[in-house]
Amino acid sequence: MGELLKIDGVVKNFRIGGMLRGKKMTAVDQVSLSIQADKPVILSIVGESGCGKSTLCKMILRIHNPDGGHIILDGKDYADKKGFDKMTFMKEVQPIFQNPYESFSARKAVDTYLYSTAKSLAGAKNQAEAEAKADEALKSVGMSLEVVKGKYSAQFSGGELQRISIARALITRPKLIIADEPVAAIDASMKMNIVNLFKDLRDKFGISFIYITHDLSTAYYVSDYIATLYRGTLIEYGPAKSIMDDPAHPYTQLLMDAVPKVGDKWKEQDAIVMPDFEDREFAIDYCKFAPRCPYATDTCIKGRPQCIDLNGERKVWCFHDLITTKKVPEKESV
Ligand SMILES: Nc1ncnc2c1ncn2[C@@H]1O[C@H](COP(=O)(O)OP(=O)(O)OP(=O)(O)O)[C@@H](O)[C@H]1O
Ligand SMILES: [Mg+2]
Repeated sequence: MGELLKIDGVVKNFRIGGMLRGKKMTAVDQVSLSIQADKPVILSIVGESGCGKSTLCKMILRIHNPDGGHIILDGKDYADKKGFDKMTFMKEVQPIFQNPYESFSARKAVDTYLYSTAKSLAGAKNQAEAEAKADEALKSVGMSLEVVKGKYSAQFSGGELQRISIARALITRPKLIIADEPVAAIDASMKMNIVNLFKDLRDKFGISFIYITHDLSTAYYVSDYIATLYRGTLIEYGPAKSIMDDPAHPYTQLLMDAVPKVGDKWKEQDAIVMPDFEDREFAIDYCKFAPRCPYATDTCIKGRPQCIDLNGERKVWCFHDLITTKKVPEKESV
């Protein structure tokens, strides 16, 4: 069946500090990931603040153009601008954003957003058809048009409003939903409710999700696959359960050691507080984690680690095959 989405060696550079004196930083550095077409999944992309999660999302959503590599959706390469049909793309790929109060204007009833999506992207020919589509989508997220009609965003809780924005996305019958920190602004008690909905929609409608988060507990709960990013590079990828239960990369191990509770964020945990050499770390051309890695050896500063394929599905970018050998390398002087 092939791939629904193939991200192949994607790169995004930004200039920081002005055009003349600024320097280049690589926010996403040769990331490759894919989602199969025949098996809908929830792929979580996790990593601490600034590791490139949103930049990667924006490239998938065609908000940013990659500076290198390829993104291929349904066999169509984003680089092929002539073959790009915006309407088809917007139907197939829908975004969900972090703060639902920013997705809906405070001065416009929220149901009007659903009708306009139904008319512009889902073929509703009149108001009655638009309302029928809106109601159907709202029912898939546990709400209904009866409850939502004529109300404004302020009349809903963050969790309810996020469900409405998910309903809006569903109207186009997308194949892929890109959700960038969709529960970060939601009350802790409602986070699980939203991520549970992703699972339901995956199973009911065959929608794949890319779920961006630094909330490890929801990632663990909801994901089929997890990709960990560190400073723009992919460092570990594989089935969620095996990554969470038996992390292979020293960085993932460090993260998993701090047992997550609902709502915990990595950056709040002492063990992984970022040192202030961030720019330099983005620029290094060997293993980006080496400066902080307890196992770093001379090998680690000689080049980028190759991908180690642990069992076909599981990949780790590290010079030390920690999970299969369970052997901690001798520390050499770095
Ligand atoms: N438009 C831009 N111009 C310059 N630098 C940018 C731009 N967008 C992102 N960056 C930089 O790229 C890096 C990655 O940013 P990105 O927003 O992708 O991180 P993130 O993983 O989404 O972080 P967070 O968890 O805080 O949302 C950061 O160092 C950021 O400052
Ligand atoms: Mg972000």
